[in-house]
Amino acid sequence: MGKKQPLRQGEKILFGIFGAFMAAAILAYIGMEWARSRMDRPMFPVLTHFELSEEGKQGSVVFRERRCTSCHRAMRNGTNMGLSLDGIGSRRTRDWLLAFLKDPEATYGAPTLDHGPAPKEAAYVAKLPEHELAQLATFLSELRADQGSAAAPLPPPGPSPFIDSMVRIFAPEEWKEKYEDVRQRAAPPAAGQEEGR
Ligand code: HEC
Repeated sequence: MGKKQPLRQGEKILFGIFGAFMAAAILAYIGMEWARSRMDRPMFPVLTHFELSEEGKQGSVVFRERRCTSCHRAMRNGTNMGLSLDGIGSRRTRDWLLAFLKDPEATYGAPTLDHGPAPKEAAYVAKLPEHELAQLATFLSELRADQGSAAAPLPPPGPSPFIDSMVRIFAPEEWKEKYEDVRQRAAPPAAGQEEGR
């Protein structure tokens, strides 16, 4: 019917900016994939690992069958939307994990979102048979994290000017008395030529 209306000046500018962003995103993506395909190491090193015992393997089956994967991620299975449990065995003991599964709120020491009494969505977890909870706790305790991974309690080994400056800028003075610097515990202050390890 009517003639197509020509774009207005402002529309041209808007579409132009949008198009430029799209083009930049696509180019950046292609560039990154290209660089990644030519690297001989993974771009992001995997810092979590696991070595499952017999009971741990049974636990990993329970983990899938009892739908833990609908809210969690472990061993590259499960959802990215929830809490990743990879490496949790380096932060929590098996006893803590078992206690948490059975009695979440008391063990957490804070109100929980999904674990806990009904009608919370993961209320069923505490009611699983005893032997399944034990297998789950063993499985989770065998998911380990290397030092320096986001799931590990300790930062990467060796001195880090970045962490030093963050602590200097953001840690209030009174924290120095109140808290211990975990890095001191890992490596007692050495002469300084400990680069890298
Ligand atoms: C409906 C979602 C949901 C399901 C299903 C679920 N979880 Fe969770 N899980 C959570 C949330 C959310 C948290 C954080 C604590 C909270 O607020 O409940 C959590 C916390 C945990 C923690 C403590 C992590 C930590 O270090 O603080 C463990 C261990 C855990 N879940 C194991 C399991 C296992 C094993 C199953 C399956 C039997 C399971 N979860 C099923 C949502 C879920």
